[in-house]
Parts: sequence; structure tokens; C-alpha cells
Amino acid sequence: MKKPIIMDCDPGHDDALALLLAFASDELDVKAVTTVGGNQTSDKTLNNAMRVLSYAGITDVPVAPGASHPLIRELQIAPEVHGESGLEGPELPEPSFASFGKSAIELMEKVIMSSEEKITLVPTGPLTNIATLLLTIPESKDRIERISLMGGSAVGGNWTPAAEFNILVDPEAADLVFQSGIPITMCGLDVTHKAQIYDDEIEAIRSQGGKVSVMVAELLDFFAKFHKKLGFEGSPLHDPCAVAWLIKPELFTSKHLHVDIETKGEFTSGATVVDYRGVTGKDPNTDVVYDLERKAFIQLLMDSFKKYD
Ligand code: BDR
Ligand code: CA
Repeated sequence: MKKPIIMDCDPGHDDALALLLAFASDELDVKAVTTVGGNQTSDKTLNNAMRVLSYAGITDVPVAPGASHPLIRELQIAPEVHGESGLEGPELPEPSFASFGKSAIELMEKVIMSSEEKITLVPTGPLTNIATLLLTIPESKDRIERISLMGGSAVGGNWTPAAEFNILVDPEAADLVFQSGIPITMCGLDVTHKAQIYDDEIEAIRSQGGKVSVMVAELLDFFAKFHKKLGFEGSPLHDPCAVAWLIKPELFTSKHLHVDIETKGEFTSGATVVDYRGVTGKDPNTDVVYDLERKAFIQLLMDSFKKYD
């Protein structure tokens, strides 16, 4: 039986790869896609999700627009990573289908409350939509199996010294989610910086030849430019980790630990404070993922993109 999931994303190059990985999987059944302001403004992230899906021929799954701003803060975006459109690199067509006529929260409520099986949420952007769902539809909480998210880190940030981008953008939302009691898998920078793809692997994806593989390689060409400037050898494939953990958890290593979100710190706002030594005495609330079998992860992605040929 396939695991029913909702992808909540802000495409974004790595979000686009996460979507393609999820839709190609025999283990996952993507019931809906919701978008959020993050890497770019919410109008662009919605359009990007729909353009990628249209390009890949996925036009029968509802896609709904979510929050344009964090719960209480101004939106921060990341054009230096993802470009002005949020998805620079390949030429993508305009969407070939209409978005769901209602909001992300209404779509998530419909899917979660009407499903016989509990739903797994896969957020790969700021957690604004997920927090809003839990605030406005509290009965949805018991119908959520798990949240497998990309965000945070146990050691050091990427947008400030302490905070990773997705959590930094909306720490109040992240705080609500981490305190919700729902089982959480946190694929943070600890693992995603080990999930790098290198130039020869991008070429191997391109030479698979299918139109999705070629488009993915063009996305990765753009993504690599930013990371090379920062001194990375490859590009960290952050968001696909949150999906791959659901497909092949055996590729990953994690520890069950307590995580708090810093919402007030002068230098540390948006930090995920991971209690590695159990000093808080608080019950673990998160599977903190910190390592993976990188080559097998890249192979999973390559095989998944090939399925679209
Ligand atoms: C996260 O921030 C975004 O730029 C990426 O899409 C990823 O979700 C990494 O910090
Ligand atoms: Ca993202």
C-alpha cells in the first residue's frame, strides 16, 4: 500500500527535485501539493510547482496556493540561490492546468479529513502552512501520521550562523509544529550538506536523455553556480532528503531527540536547539537525521528521473 502524502513546498530548485522524486515513487501516493512563500514570493512558488508538474505531465493532482507571509514576520526570500523566478535554468512552459480553487489549508483539510489512512506531510519550505493548518483545523492533528521535513540543523545554520533558511523565515510556525506532538523527521543541514551532487553526476543525469532528466540537469547547473561561489564542491540536495527518507529510510541515520525552536534570540532566532545530551529532560519529539548513504541516494534520484522517459 502506498503511503499517502502531501507535499508542501516553495520551489526552488531542490523543491522541484523533491516533487519529481515523490511523484515517481512506487512507495508514495502524492494526494496534493501546496505551496508557500519562501525561496520566492508565493505567486512565483505556486507557478513554479505547476510549471514543473506540467512539464513532467502531472496534471491530475490538486495544487493550491498557501501563505504569502510568515505568521508574524516579513517574508525573506532567496533569489541569490534560486534566481528571480525562483526556478532559473531550464525553459519551462506555463502551467497546463488550473490550480485548486481554494487555499492550501482548505486543500490539506479536505485530503486529511477524508482519508481513511493517516496522511504524512512533507514540508520543504517555511512551516507557515503547516502551523496554520494546526491552528485553524486542530482536529487534523490526529489524522497526521508524521511530518518529514527539510529544515533546521543540529550544528550551525546557512542563512545566519545559527539558523537554516526554512526555520529562520518562520520560527513561530516551526515552534508550533515542533511542539505539536506529531512525530517529526528533521532532515536538516547535518544530513543535507552530506547529500551533495557532483558535476559528473549531473552529467550522468543529463545523459539519461529523457526530457525530465535533461531539465533536472539544467536546474542543477544553475543551483551549482551558487554553491560553487560559496566553496561547496557539489550542491546539497536539501529537499529531496525529506522525500527519500520516506522511500528508503535505510539509507539514513538518525537519533530520536528533543528539538526546541529559538524564536527570540538576538543572534540565534530560527535555530533548532537539539538536545543531544538529554540535558533538558524533555521527551524526544524529533528524529534528527544526520547521515546518509550518498551514492545510493543519488542513484535513487537518477532512477526516479529516468522513470519519466
Ligand atoms: C532550504 O532553503 C531553501 O533555499 C531550499 O529550497 C531548502 O528547502 C535549505 O536551507
Ligand atoms: Ca525548499
